[in-house]
Amino acid sequence: MRKPIIAGNWKMNKTPAEAVELVKGLIPLVKDAKCDVVVCPTAVCLPAVAEVIKGTNIKLGAQNVHFAEKGAYTGELSADMLKAVGCEYVIVGHSERRQYFGETDKTVNLRATAAVKAGLTAIICVGEMKDERVDGYTDIIVAYQTKMALKGLTAEELNHVVIAYEPVWAIGTGLTATDEQANETIGVIRKAIAEVYGDDVAQKVRIQYGGSMKGSNVKGLMAQPEIDGGLIGGASLKAEDFAQVVNF
Ligand code: PGA
Repeated sequence: MRKPIIAGNWKMNKTPAEAVELVKGLIPLVKDAKCDVVVCPTAVCLPAVAEVIKGTNIKLGAQNVHFAEKGAYTGELSADMLKAVGCEYVIVGHSERRQYFGETDKTVNLRATAAVKAGLTAIICVGEMKDERVDGYTDIIVAYQTKMALKGLTAEELNHVVIAYEPVWAIGTGLTATDEQANETIGVIRKAIAEVYGDDVAQKVRIQYGGSMKGSNVKGLMAQPEIDGGLIGGASLKAEDFAQVVNF
């Protein structure tokens, strides 16, 4: 049985003071959660949030990681730096990074590899654009992105990988994939993993859905057999909203 994992991707929102306020509100609301609970604030908020969640069931994640251990990479953060401020998770290859910051399947693979080798769990995002779905290429795209992202990782290392299936057209748009669409595409991703690592390994990998997931649609999505949780953007920015998703 795969334990569900619900992660909040706060994106470029909240100052450290606001982040602390949000997570303080969240702690009592999710303390009995049956799933793993992760919050991913901006890098400047990580230390403050880490302090507040000490001793709670909320885990800390970052939104990106660089693949080098250190060096001349202005503006980047290494996996060891993220670990040093209390991160256990890091989002890799979010579609916004792919769209706006030139992230490619190759750099996603490098970042995911660096994260996993350093002992972080990488939440690797994959997903098709609107026209790719309309043209019937969803399955090919997500299978390819998944295999490329995992390239070189061992079966053992897949214990430290979570995949987030996020159809790009559903992110921040209010549009959600139907329960069945999300389930079916996550099944495709699992099959792609099985093709490389075998079915036993693939059955253990947790695959989230992301894209306008919220209190009102979480139950239907989570009732699907392939969906192991969610990566939540907009609905993670208010404690009550995120708690509704976590306590599905
Ligand atoms: P959304 O974002 O929930 O606001 O659609 C999800 C994500 O981008 O991870």
